[in-house]
Amino acid sequence: MSKSGALNLVSGVGGKINKEDVQSAVEQYEKYHTSYGGDEESRKANYSDMVNKYYDLATSFYEFGWGESFHFAHRWKEESLRESIKRHEHFLGLQLGLKPGMKVLDVGCGIGGPLREIARFSSTSITGLNNNEYQISRGSALNRIAGLDKSCDFVKADFMKMPFSDDTFDAIYAIEATCHAPDAVGCYKEIYRVLKPGQYFAAYEWCITDHFNPNNESHKKIKAEIELGNGLPDVRSTRECLDALKLAGFEVTWEKDLAADSPLPWYLPLDTSRFSITSFRLTAFGRFITRTMVKTLEFLRIAPEGSERVSAFLEKAAEGLVAGGRMEIFTPMYFFLVRKPL
Ligand SMILES: C[S@@+](CC[C@H](N)C(=O)[O-])C[C@H]1O[C@@H](n2cnc3c(N)ncnc32)[C@H](O)[C@@H]1O
Repeated sequence: MSKSGALNLVSGVGGKINKEDVQSAVEQYEKYHTSYGGDEESRKANYSDMVNKYYDLATSFYEFGWGESFHFAHRWKEESLRESIKRHEHFLGLQLGLKPGMKVLDVGCGIGGPLREIARFSSTSITGLNNNEYQISRGSALNRIAGLDKSCDFVKADFMKMPFSDDTFDAIYAIEATCHAPDAVGCYKEIYRVLKPGQYFAAYEWCITDHFNPNNESHKKIKAEIELGNGLPDVRSTRECLDALKLAGFEVTWEKDLAADSPLPWYLPLDTSRFSITSFRLTAFGRFITRTMVKTLEFLRIAPEGSERVSAFLEKAAEGLVAGGRMEIFTPMYFFLVRKPL
């Protein structure tokens, strides 16, 4: 079962970082970002440290507020958030034509929520690749509980240099993960290498859209908030992603920003102007309660020092995401299905 209680939240802050080092990890993490004097070059050069610190600090907040799958979803009216998240995962399985017996790779698998759902949906064996040790330990425990530990596994490695032979997998997907890559072409080339010829790679990417204006100060501020709040070295445009896929050698079957025709906006769960009982923890009041609780538990020394600051940069992320979504300058669901030629 997902660790969704308040004590689980605070005991998980910092992941594999020693509890007494959480505060300095937060400071080091913040310094990578533009609002704290950091720059894109240093985020890219140190992407592994930056992204790992981010997920050590933020994973238990994600699990508390969002559940086992750490992504947004295209959403129909009258569909719950949870239903839309599952359908968004099933959609990838369908697009990839997953069938029993296929060997599948989930690139940047989080704690394995999508991996478990897609494995059950398609009766495939899925390997989750992740560079964050804490998330892998959570994912392994959840796979055991789900009874999927014999058919699915996790590998701790960097998706820029994967420990697999060429032509290993029958299908590969990535959900809101390869946006952490310091170099899109390098990342897609590595995925291309381990995919069998004639097979497919599908993903949802975080991107800025054609509405983003690099000379607009408010657009730039929103982009910086998204980078800070989500552990990103940069946010690429949909065009840059598409070009990178082609440069890596893929044939593009189809691609589309699914946010453009989502009947309910993907950022609705984070929008402070709405209220929801089913995703109460994500509402303005739910987030206020979480913040106050984390602050109190930190004061009582139950939560590690620095926990409240993590909560604060995640709030910034939520604000940036909602603003970016409303202005349509950002999407977390630029979808593509691409094929490695025979
Ligand atoms: C937003 S989370 C999405 C997780 C998962 N796909 C889901 O939807 O629940 C991004 C994931 O990418 C992983 N990741 C980021 N950079 C990575 C890298 N260089 N190598 C492997 N995994 C990475 C993170 O550790 C995290 O698990």
